[in-house]
Amino acid sequence: MRLYITTAFITLIVLIGIIGYQQQFGLDSSLPIDEEQGGLNDQIVINFSHIVAENTPKGQTAIKFAELLEQKTDGRIRVVIYPNGLLYNDNNELEALENGEVEMIAPSFSKMTKTLPTWSVLDLPYLFHTEDDVKRVLTGPFGEQLLNQLGRYNIKGLAFWNNGFKQILTSGKPILTSEDFKGLKVRAMPSKVLQQQFTIFQATPVATSFDELYTELEKKELNAQENTISNIYSKGFYKLQKNLTITNHGVLGYAVMMNEDFYNSLSTDLQEKVVEAINEATSWNFEHSKHMNDKDLESLQQLSDVQIRTLSYDEQQKWQKLFKPIYENYRKQVSKTFLQEIEKEINNK
Ligand code: LMR
Repeated sequence: MRLYITTAFITLIVLIGIIGYQQQFGLDSSLPIDEEQGGLNDQIVINFSHIVAENTPKGQTAIKFAELLEQKTDGRIRVVIYPNGLLYNDNNELEALENGEVEMIAPSFSKMTKTLPTWSVLDLPYLFHTEDDVKRVLTGPFGEQLLNQLGRYNIKGLAFWNNGFKQILTSGKPILTSEDFKGLKVRAMPSKVLQQQFTIFQATPVATSFDELYTELEKKELNAQENTISNIYSKGFYKLQKNLTITNHGVLGYAVMMNEDFYNSLSTDLQEKVVEAINEATSWNFEHSKHMNDKDLESLQQLSDVQIRTLSYDEQQKWQKLFKPIYENYRKQVSKTFLQEIEKEINNK
């Protein structure tokens, strides 16, 4: 009897401890939970896989979306985020989404251009001049038109998110003119437009996947790359490539996508909550992405071994002229209409 009372007492203490721990620390959105727990069996889980660090515009907006959706559905939907390519990488995330192995991903729009070549209009260098241009195009009717094209791949296009303008990072001499690229191996995402930027400069573009980039830099396989400050900082690329040139020559943004069968399986009420949460997270993203890149730039400025330069105005003008054939190729080989439409949207402020 005494043994029975002691065992019951210890069990009670352990249970109180577990409940207290959960109340104090909450349940972490980035960790999977045991769905067998009582009361959680009805919960719908959205697994959201992405490849960047959590302290980036995409990482933070994904967390914001998860919090919003959980709040709006009173916990009926739980979003489990897998950052840093923990679940899928550049090469297999899209297939996993189409097959319903994962419910959500948010690859860069550049990585979607093999499937949807029209999207490469967004990669055209020096197309966007300000963050406002990016927001207007990606959250307006033009962006919606692009997202609607995903329907034929069993994908529900939910929104575009922004990271920011891309800069150039090199391991050898800094990039101050277009001639400095001659003979370099430059990592660029797998998009024809992005690759052409560097062939025009007589460099060799290499489409290394994001998760292998650090290792390839360690092996000294690449001389340069284009990326945003937040990716350069959060992944520590600046430790291996120490010359940063602020060029703002292109934009990195994301297509936030959900498996369409999964979306259709949700009740209308829950679908509405998903859309609401996405819209609010998207507004948050456009308000905060520039600040995140600016903050990381300040951190890089504190490092004595990282050299930061800005591309001169004259050189920027020269690059824009050199890039003209890329626009011409897009117009002739992909879509004259898309280019006209986006230019109109950017110029009609
Ligand atoms: C890259 O490959 O450099 C980017 O697409 C990574 C990302 O998703 O921001």
